Amino acid sequence: MDKMIVQPSGALNGSVKTSGAKNSSLPILFSSLLAEGEHTFHNVPHLKDIESTCELLNLLGAETLREGTTLKVKVKRPERMQADYDVVRKMRASILCLGPLLAQYGEAVVSLPGGCAIGTRPINLHLDAMESLGAQMKVEKGFVLAKAPKLVGSTILFENATVGGTENLMMAASLAEGTTIIENAAKEPEIVDLANYLNKMGAKVSGAGTSIITIEGVEKLKPAEHLIIPDRIEAGTLLIAGAITGGEVRVEDCMPEHIESLIQKMKESGFKITKDKTSVTVHPCQSWQGVDITTAPHPGFATDLQAQYMTLMTQAEGTSVITESIFENRFMHVQELTRLGADITPKTRVAVVRGHKGELQGAPVMATDLRASACLVLAGLVAQGETTVNRIYHLDRGYEKLEDKLTSLGAKIKRAKE
Ligand code: UD1
Repeated sequence: MDKMIVQPSGALNGSVKTSGAKNSSLPILFSSLLAEGEHTFHNVPHLKDIESTCELLNLLGAETLREGTTLKVKVKRPERMQADYDVVRKMRASILCLGPLLAQYGEAVVSLPGGCAIGTRPINLHLDAMESLGAQMKVEKGFVLAKAPKLVGSTILFENATVGGTENLMMAASLAEGTTIIENAAKEPEIVDLANYLNKMGAKVSGAGTSIITIEGVEKLKPAEHLIIPDRIEAGTLLIAGAITGGEVRVEDCMPEHIESLIQKMKESGFKITKDKTSVTVHPCQSWQGVDITTAPHPGFATDLQAQYMTLMTQAEGTSVITESIFENRFMHVQELTRLGADITPKTRVAVVRGHKGELQGAPVMATDLRASACLVLAGLVAQGETTVNRIYHLDRGYEKLEDKLTSLGAKIKRAKE
């Protein structure tokens, strides 16, 4: 297992490019199951979660071929429409094969993902949505069994604006008979990216990016080609890396409008941030204020940037209140930040951070989930002495070459074996 050793690094400076979005790539790769033949995707990041997706697509009969950031997926009818626990436990997003398999082949067997570090993360809304389209759903011996000789469009109101649920339903409804309307749909940029790819394949999806999405089912889809959007969470993390070290970092190849809520909060805190169409720059700042955030569905403050923002707030002047409204257990990083000397009081869904610039002390810490790992690396950049972040495999699930990108900006960081 790898670990990351981070030394106090001084101000990071320079330009750094954003990779393709993990959370767009995953549903879009699974959507290829809706059309047999060769799909071509560009700007697909090199990540463990992408490898797990390819592994599952391979098990489902597809061939995957990588050339740099281009990934070709050759889809053919699977022998078994089954996603086993071995793959699903590695990546919860495996549930996204449910909708495509069911719509295209009339059946799907997908292992239940189980719990994870950031909470119970149920999939009931995915299952209810498939049922609303007429599928027979059963949960047996740890597997979801879904059958539907034919899916029929319906109106579905999501109780929570679920990202994965909206994606699964959009994919299934694309091949259903008649029209499906999703109310209280998730509005994340990744939903729009998936809708764009479905439409390239011949689907009729409209309204993606708003809370009502309409899908007119079609009989058949065909493979297409697509450029994945930039990763907004990576862009935000790199921006915070520049900010927390008091440096000037320009994050390129990103879509600043996708991280507007972060940019607003950082400006409120005292940072000068400039942007153009595809890049955003944080300018040197020596002192910033504590500013509260509450995570919310897009365009609100992304839960996937909460941990990194919390690290930034440990170095602010004054107090900030961080409220996590999406997941019930997403403060696992608080304990680790506290080990580094941060002054944070966590309650169930609220954490009070009392900022003290320069008071973090390097120590061995443990990454508990993907975004928590990133927040510990950020803390290591400004802590006094060496910080060792163990269990870095979490980071590799979602950040492409983070240590190389940070090193190119002047960070003192290296990977080692645990
Ligand atoms: C996606 C992202 C993840 C991000 C999250 C919220 C991917 C691969 N992952 O996860 O990085 O943190 O959106 O922006 O895109 N819920 C239910 N029942 C369900 C489904 C969800 O109750 O069937 C609840 C969840 O517990 C959570 C909320 O709805 O409280 C939102 O979860 P959801 O948007 O579904 O997250 P994911 O799609 O799993």
